[in-house]
Amino acid sequence: LKRLTIPAIQRRKADGHTAQPIVMLTAYTARQAQLLDEHCDILLVGDSLGQVIYGLPSSVPVTLEMMAAHGAAVVRGSYHAVVVVDMPFGTYEASPQQAFESAARLLKETGCAGVKLEGGAAMAETVAFLVARGIPVMGHVGLTPQAVNVLGGYGARGRSDAEAQKIIADAKALEAAGAFAIVVEGVIEPIAIAVTQAVTCPVIGIGGSAQCDGQVLVTEDMLGMFERVPRFVKRYEDLGGVISGAVARYAAEVRERSFPGPEQTYQPK
Ligand code: KIV
Ligand code: NA
Repeated sequence: LKRLTIPAIQRRKADGHTAQPIVMLTAYTARQAQLLDEHCDILLVGDSLGQVIYGLPSSVPVTLEMMAAHGAAVVRGSYHAVVVVDMPFGTYEASPQQAFESAARLLKETGCAGVKLEGGAAMAETVAFLVARGIPVMGHVGLTPQAVNVLGGYGARGRSDAEAQKIIADAKALEAAGAFAIVVEGVIEPIAIAVTQAVTCPVIGIGGSAQCDGQVLVTEDMLGMFERVPRFVKRYEDLGGVISGAVARYAAEVRERSFPGPEQTYQPK
């Protein structure tokens, strides 16, 4: 398996319809990346790692250093999927120059293929600035979790006509700026479909529609590793339950001195 490229991902929608939907999941560690790699087209090192692995209340406090460390681990653990790293809050919004410095660090320190940033029309100039300088950018519209303090929560977006039109306009602005793909998160299904049809770059849904050009979920959410999950998460496994069961057996065996057994101990020759 040769590593996929961003142009190859873009070509999936070349005829205006993505016949082979894009499979994307988040990955934060090398071992997780190894397990997901052969099944996925894109591994996203999402700033959701703030909540999922650092126990933070939102993605707002996530730093560039965290993203660089986890991004490098995911690149080391994969050889097939395209690796995209999220730009954390406060490292790109001030100016295109600030965004370039942050994104260049992520590319240089991790070996990832591209970055993702949140925001639509307001970020278009920045997206064009990065793309012109060799940094592929994935956009993210609809529910943008870094803006939780402005949005006031994580509810679905696009319920009013004005908000729906704004989300479509944001996606078009990102496309015009040269974004190679766009994540549309937490919007009512007709808006997810409208966004998908409005732009020529692939649109990847999360809480969107099966009609999007691809799907993404937070891996821990779909595996049942994270306790509070939104409606749009489908739980494919209960790994949380599997882990607590295994740990309970280990704890019981330690307490009754039946672990370690003969197979796990060294004896003199
Ligand atoms: O941070 C993240 O995991 C994301 C995806 C959910 C799209 O941005
Ligand atoms: Na994110």
